[in-house]
Amino acid sequence: MALTLWKDYKTVKVEKDDGTTWVTLNRPEKRNAMNPQLHYDMLEALTELEVDKETQVVVLTGAGPSWCAGQDLREYFRGTDNNALERRKASWASQEWRWRRLFYFPKPTIAMVNGFCFGGAFTPLIACDFAIASDTATFGLSEINWGIFPGGLVSRVLVDAMSYRDAMWYIMTGDPFDGKRAAEVKLVNFSVPPEKLREETIKLADKLKKKNPAVLRAAKEVYKHCRTMDYSQAEEYMSAKGTALRLTDPEKGRETGMEQFLDKKTYRPGLGEYKR
Ligand code: COA
Repeated sequence: MALTLWKDYKTVKVEKDDGTTWVTLNRPEKRNAMNPQLHYDMLEALTELEVDKETQVVVLTGAGPSWCAGQDLREYFRGTDNNALERRKASWASQEWRWRRLFYFPKPTIAMVNGFCFGGAFTPLIACDFAIASDTATFGLSEINWGIFPGGLVSRVLVDAMSYRDAMWYIMTGDPFDGKRAAEVKLVNFSVPPEKLREETIKLADKLKKKNPAVLRAAKEVYKHCRTMDYSQAEEYMSAKGTALRLTDPEKGRETGMEQFLDKKTYRPGLGEYKR
Protein backbone atom coordinates (compact mmCIF):
# COMPACT_ATOMS: atom_id res chain seq x y z
CA MET A 1 0.00 0.00 0.00
CA ALA A 2 1.47 3.36 -1.05
CA LEU A 3 -0.56 6.15 0.50
CA THR A 4 -0.20 9.61 -0.99
CA LEU A 5 -1.34 12.61 1.01
CA TRP A 6 -3.89 14.45 -1.11
CA LYS A 7 -5.35 17.07 1.23
CA ASP A 8 -4.57 17.96 4.78
CA TYR A 9 -7.55 19.83 6.20
CA LYS A 10 -7.29 21.27 9.70
CA THR A 11 -8.98 18.24 11.27
CA VAL A 12 -9.18 15.68 8.48
CA LYS A 13 -6.50 13.98 6.44
CA VAL A 14 -7.24 12.62 2.97
CA GLU A 15 -4.86 10.10 1.40
CA LYS A 16 -5.10 8.09 -1.79
CA ASP A 17 -3.94 4.69 -2.87
CA ASP A 18 -4.86 3.26 -6.25
CA GLY A 19 -8.56 4.25 -6.30
CA THR A 20 -9.11 3.89 -2.55
CA THR A 21 -9.32 7.19 -0.69
CA TRP A 22 -8.62 7.11 3.03
CA VAL A 23 -10.39 9.85 4.97
CA THR A 24 -8.99 10.05 8.49
CA LEU A 25 -10.59 12.09 11.27
CA ASN A 26 -7.49 13.70 12.62
CA ARG A 27 -7.82 15.08 16.14
CA PRO A 28 -6.25 12.14 17.97
CA GLU A 29 -5.48 14.22 21.06
CA LYS A 30 -9.26 14.79 21.39
CA ARG A 31 -10.09 11.25 20.32
CA ASN A 32 -11.41 12.67 17.02
CA ALA A 33 -14.38 14.31 18.73
CA MET A 34 -16.30 16.36 16.18
CA ASN A 35 -15.88 20.10 16.69
CA PRO A 36 -17.43 22.64 14.26
CA GLN A 37 -14.20 22.76 12.23
CA LEU A 38 -14.29 19.00 11.70
CA HIS A 39 -17.85 19.27 10.38
CA TYR A 40 -16.81 22.00 7.93
CA ASP A 41 -13.75 20.01 6.86
CA MET A 42 -15.71 16.81 6.33
CA LEU A 43 -18.38 18.59 4.31
CA GLU A 44 -15.74 20.04 2.04
CA ALA A 45 -13.79 16.79 1.77
CA LEU A 46 -16.84 14.73 0.84
CA THR A 47 -17.97 17.32 -1.70
CA GLU A 48 -14.57 17.21 -3.38
CA LEU A 49 -14.39 13.42 -3.32
CA GLU A 50 -17.84 13.04 -4.86
CA VAL A 51 -16.49 14.43 -8.11
CA ASP A 52 -12.87 13.32 -7.78
CA LYS A 53 -12.14 10.99 -10.66
CA GLU A 54 -9.39 9.07 -8.84
CA THR A 55 -11.64 8.14 -5.91
CA GLN A 56 -13.46 4.86 -6.43
CA VAL A 57 -14.01 3.79 -2.80
CA VAL A 58 -13.90 5.88 0.38
CA VAL A 59 -12.69 4.50 3.71
CA LEU A 60 -13.56 6.55 6.79
CA THR A 61 -11.29 5.99 9.77
CA GLY A 62 -9.74 7.76 12.76
CA ALA A 63 -6.24 8.74 13.83
CA GLY A 64 -4.84 7.30 17.05
CA PRO A 65 -6.81 5.08 19.43
CA SER A 66 -10.22 6.41 18.41
CA TRP A 67 -12.53 6.26 15.41
CA CYS A 68 -14.64 9.15 16.66
CA ALA A 69 -15.62 10.12 20.22
CA GLY A 70 -18.86 11.76 19.06
CA GLN A 71 -19.66 15.44 19.16
CA ASP A 72 -17.11 17.61 20.93
CA LEU A 73 -18.77 18.48 24.22
CA ARG A 74 -16.56 21.51 24.73
CA GLU A 75 -16.52 23.06 21.25
CA TYR A 76 -19.69 21.77 19.58
CA PHE A 77 -22.03 21.96 22.57
CA ARG A 78 -20.76 24.30 25.28
CA GLY A 79 -18.82 26.48 22.83
CA THR A 80 -21.91 27.34 20.79
CA ASP A 81 -24.48 27.49 23.61
CA ASN A 82 -24.33 31.29 23.46
CA ASN A 83 -23.63 31.67 19.77
CA ALA A 84 -26.79 30.91 17.82
CA LEU A 85 -25.24 31.54 14.41
CA GLU A 86 -22.23 29.29 14.94
CA ARG A 87 -24.50 26.60 16.42
CA ARG A 88 -26.72 26.73 13.37
CA LYS A 89 -23.81 26.61 10.91
CA ALA A 90 -22.12 23.75 12.74
CA SER A 91 -25.38 21.88 13.13
CA TRP A 92 -26.26 22.11 9.41
CA ALA A 93 -22.76 21.01 8.40
CA SER A 94 -22.87 18.22 10.96
CA GLN A 95 -26.16 16.76 9.76
CA GLU A 96 -25.32 17.28 6.11
CA TRP A 97 -22.05 15.33 5.96
CA ARG A 98 -22.79 12.73 8.62
CA TRP A 99 -26.03 11.67 7.02
CA ARG A 100 -27.20 13.00 3.66
CA ARG A 101 -23.82 13.28 1.95
CA LEU A 102 -22.42 10.06 3.35
CA PHE A 103 -25.56 7.95 3.12
CA TYR A 104 -26.09 8.88 -0.54
CA PHE A 105 -22.40 9.19 -1.43
CA PRO A 106 -22.16 8.16 -5.10
CA LYS A 107 -19.32 5.69 -4.48
CA PRO A 108 -18.95 2.82 -1.99
CA THR A 109 -18.06 3.85 1.56
CA ILE A 110 -16.48 1.73 4.29
CA ALA A 111 -16.27 2.71 7.97
CA MET A 112 -13.06 1.17 9.32
CA VAL A 113 -13.65 1.40 13.06
CA ASN A 114 -10.25 1.30 14.71
CA GLY A 115 -11.20 2.39 18.24
CA PHE A 116 -13.72 4.46 20.22
CA CYS A 117 -17.07 5.09 18.55
CA PHE A 118 -19.51 7.05 20.69
CA GLY A 119 -22.76 8.97 20.45
CA GLY A 120 -22.88 11.22 17.40
CA ALA A 121 -20.33 8.98 15.66
CA PHE A 122 -23.09 6.39 15.15
CA THR A 123 -24.59 8.58 12.41
CA PRO A 124 -21.62 8.42 9.99
CA LEU A 125 -21.03 4.82 11.05
CA ILE A 126 -24.51 3.83 9.93
CA ALA A 127 -24.43 6.11 6.87
CA CYS A 128 -21.47 4.19 5.43
CA ASP A 129 -22.39 1.26 3.19
CA PHE A 130 -20.09 -1.10 5.07
CA ALA A 131 -18.50 -1.15 8.51
CA ILE A 132 -15.58 -3.28 9.64
CA ALA A 133 -14.46 -2.98 13.25
CA SER A 134 -11.49 -3.98 15.28
CA ASP A 135 -12.45 -6.63 17.85
CA THR A 136 -11.07 -4.23 20.43
CA ALA A 137 -13.00 -1.11 19.31
CA THR A 138 -15.34 0.35 21.93
CA PHE A 139 -18.83 1.46 20.95
CA GLY A 140 -21.39 3.23 23.09
CA LEU A 141 -24.50 5.36 23.06
CA SER A 142 -23.00 7.32 25.92
CA GLU A 143 -25.42 10.26 25.76
CA ILE A 144 -27.51 8.99 28.68
CA ASN A 145 -24.33 8.92 30.79
CA TRP A 146 -23.86 12.67 30.51
CA GLY A 147 -27.44 13.83 30.60
CA ILE A 148 -28.82 13.92 27.07
CA PHE A 149 -30.53 11.46 24.72
CA PRO A 150 -29.08 10.31 21.36
CA GLY A 151 -30.17 13.27 19.20
CA GLY A 152 -28.85 14.79 16.00
CA LEU A 153 -30.46 11.94 14.02
CA VAL A 154 -28.75 9.15 16.01
CA SER A 155 -31.99 7.75 17.45
CA ARG A 156 -33.57 7.84 14.00
CA VAL A 157 -30.75 6.14 12.11
CA LEU A 158 -30.48 3.46 14.78
CA VAL A 159 -33.87 2.20 13.64
CA ASP A 160 -32.21 1.14 10.38
CA ALA A 161 -29.21 -0.49 11.96
CA MET A 162 -30.09 -2.19 15.25
CA SER A 163 -32.90 -4.33 16.51
CA TYR A 164 -35.48 -2.70 18.78
CA ARG A 165 -34.23 -4.64 21.82
CA ASP A 166 -30.56 -3.87 21.24
CA ALA A 167 -31.21 -0.20 20.49
CA MET A 168 -33.32 0.26 23.62
CA TRP A 169 -30.71 -1.52 25.69
CA TYR A 170 -27.80 0.62 24.57
CA ILE A 171 -29.76 3.90 24.43
CA MET A 172 -31.05 3.47 27.98
CA THR A 173 -28.07 1.86 29.71
CA GLY A 174 -25.23 3.65 27.90
CA ASP A 175 -23.26 0.40 28.29
CA PRO A 176 -20.10 0.28 26.18
CA PHE A 177 -19.61 -2.78 23.93
CA ASP A 178 -16.74 -4.09 21.85
CA GLY A 179 -16.27 -4.78 18.15
CA LYS A 180 -17.22 -8.44 18.49
CA ARG A 181 -20.54 -7.48 20.06
CA ALA A 182 -21.07 -4.81 17.36
CA ALA A 183 -20.70 -7.59 14.78
CA GLU A 184 -23.04 -9.88 16.72
CA VAL A 185 -25.82 -7.26 16.71
CA LYS A 186 -25.02 -6.45 13.04
CA LEU A 187 -24.12 -2.84 13.69
CA VAL A 188 -20.98 -3.64 11.67
CA ASN A 189 -20.48 -6.30 8.99
CA PHE A 190 -17.78 -8.09 10.96
CA SER A 191 -14.93 -7.50 13.35
CA VAL A 192 -11.34 -8.66 13.15
CA PRO A 193 -8.26 -8.54 15.37
CA PRO A 194 -6.74 -5.04 15.21
CA GLU A 195 -3.71 -6.18 13.23
CA LYS A 196 -6.00 -7.49 10.47
CA LEU A 197 -8.26 -4.44 10.24
CA ARG A 198 -6.52 -2.59 7.43
CA GLU A 199 -5.90 -5.75 5.42
CA GLU A 200 -9.56 -6.79 5.57
CA THR A 201 -10.70 -3.28 4.66
CA ILE A 202 -8.40 -3.24 1.64
CA LYS A 203 -9.74 -6.64 0.59
CA LEU A 204 -13.29 -5.29 0.56
CA ALA A 205 -12.27 -2.06 -1.21
CA ASP A 206 -10.45 -4.08 -3.89
CA LYS A 207 -13.50 -6.27 -4.41
CA LEU A 208 -15.70 -3.19 -4.90
CA LYS A 209 -13.25 -1.58 -7.30
CA LYS A 210 -13.66 -4.51 -9.70
CA LYS A 211 -17.37 -3.72 -10.21
CA ASN A 212 -18.86 -1.36 -12.74
CA PRO A 213 -19.01 2.00 -10.85
CA ALA A 214 -22.16 3.28 -12.56
CA VAL A 215 -24.03 0.12 -11.61
CA LEU A 216 -22.64 0.16 -8.07
CA ARG A 217 -23.84 3.72 -7.65
CA ALA A 218 -27.29 2.94 -8.98
CA ALA A 219 -27.52 -0.20 -6.84
CA LYS A 220 -26.89 1.65 -3.59
CA GLU A 221 -29.06 4.62 -4.55
CA VAL A 222 -31.98 2.38 -5.43
CA TYR A 223 -31.77 0.39 -2.22
CA LYS A 224 -31.30 3.42 0.01
CA HIS A 225 -34.02 5.58 -1.57
CA CYS A 226 -36.57 2.79 -1.84
CA ARG A 227 -36.48 2.06 1.90
CA THR A 228 -38.89 4.91 2.55
CA MET A 229 -41.09 4.56 -0.55
CA ASP A 230 -44.31 2.64 -0.86
CA TYR A 231 -44.43 -0.27 -3.31
CA SER A 232 -45.80 1.57 -6.31
CA GLN A 233 -43.41 4.49 -5.86
CA ALA A 234 -40.51 2.05 -5.57
CA GLU A 235 -41.59 0.18 -8.69
CA GLU A 236 -41.86 3.39 -10.69
CA TYR A 237 -38.55 4.74 -9.37
CA MET A 238 -36.67 1.52 -10.13
CA SER A 239 -38.10 1.34 -13.61
CA ALA A 240 -37.01 4.91 -14.37
CA LYS A 241 -33.62 4.38 -12.76
CA GLY A 242 -33.07 1.19 -14.77
CA THR A 243 -33.79 3.01 -18.02
CA ALA A 244 -31.50 5.88 -17.03
CA LEU A 245 -28.72 3.45 -16.16
CA ARG A 246 -28.97 1.63 -19.50
CA LEU A 247 -28.72 4.90 -21.34
CA THR A 248 -25.90 6.42 -19.32
CA ASP A 249 -23.67 3.49 -18.28
CA PRO A 250 -20.41 4.14 -20.18
CA GLU A 251 -19.53 0.42 -19.98
CA LYS A 252 -22.90 -0.77 -21.19
CA GLY A 253 -22.65 -3.33 -18.39
CA ARG A 254 -26.01 -5.00 -18.99
CA GLU A 255 -25.27 -5.75 -22.64
CA THR A 256 -21.66 -6.75 -21.95
CA GLY A 257 -22.67 -8.98 -19.06
CA MET A 258 -25.32 -10.76 -21.12
CA GLU A 259 -23.07 -11.14 -24.12
CA GLN A 260 -20.23 -12.69 -22.11
CA PHE A 261 -22.62 -15.13 -20.40
CA LEU A 262 -25.08 -16.02 -23.17
CA ASP A 263 -22.97 -15.80 -26.31
CA LYS A 264 -19.32 -16.07 -25.36
CA LYS A 265 -19.94 -18.27 -22.32
CA THR A 266 -16.86 -16.84 -20.61
CA TYR A 267 -18.22 -16.46 -17.06
CA ARG A 268 -21.10 -17.28 -14.73
CA PRO A 269 -22.90 -14.22 -13.23
CA GLY A 270 -23.85 -16.32 -10.22
CA LEU A 271 -20.18 -16.86 -9.41
CA GLY A 272 -18.50 -13.57 -10.24
CA GLU A 273 -18.54 -10.46 -12.41
CA TYR A 274 -18.15 -10.05 -16.16
CA LYS A 275 -14.77 -9.04 -17.59
CA ARG A 276 -14.60 -5.25 -17.81
N1 COA B 1 -15.85 15.98 23.52
C1 COA B 1 -14.87 16.81 23.93
N2 COA B 1 -13.66 16.38 24.31
C2 COA B 1 -13.41 15.05 24.22
C3 COA B 1 -14.39 14.14 23.80
C4 COA B 1 -15.65 14.65 23.43
N3 COA B 1 -16.64 13.86 22.97
N4 COA B 1 -13.87 12.90 23.85
C5 COA B 1 -12.60 13.05 24.29
N5 COA B 1 -12.33 14.34 24.52
C6 COA B 1 -11.09 14.95 24.98
C7 COA B 1 -10.94 14.86 26.50
O1 COA B 1 -11.65 15.91 27.14
C8 COA B 1 -9.45 15.00 26.63
O2 COA B 1 -9.10 16.34 26.46
P1 COA B 1 -7.94 17.03 27.36
O3 COA B 1 -6.70 16.26 27.03
O4 COA B 1 -7.93 18.43 26.91
O5 COA B 1 -8.38 16.82 28.77
C9 COA B 1 -8.92 14.23 25.40
O6 COA B 1 -9.99 14.23 24.48
C10 COA B 1 -8.55 12.80 25.67
O7 COA B 1 -9.66 12.20 26.32
P2 COA B 1 -9.52 11.21 27.57
O8 COA B 1 -10.87 11.07 28.18
O9 COA B 1 -8.40 11.66 28.43
O10 COA B 1 -9.05 9.90 26.78
P3 COA B 1 -9.32 8.36 27.12
O11 COA B 1 -8.60 7.63 26.05
O12 COA B 1 -9.00 8.07 28.54
O13 COA B 1 -10.90 8.15 26.94
C11 COA B 1 -13.00 8.30 25.77
C12 COA B 1 -11.46 8.25 25.65
C13 COA B 1 -13.49 8.50 24.32
C14 COA B 1 -13.54 7.00 26.36
C15 COA B 1 -13.43 9.49 26.67
O14 COA B 1 -12.72 10.66 26.29
C16 COA B 1 -14.91 9.81 26.57
O15 COA B 1 -15.70 9.17 27.24
N6 COA B 1 -15.28 10.81 25.74
C17 COA B 1 -16.67 11.19 25.59
C18 COA B 1 -17.37 10.25 24.67
C19 COA B 1 -18.81 10.62 24.48
O16 COA B 1 -19.64 10.50 25.38
N7 COA B 1 -19.18 11.04 23.27
C20 COA B 1 -20.54 11.31 22.90
C21 COA B 1 -20.72 12.70 22.54
S1 COA B 1 -22.29 12.90 21.72
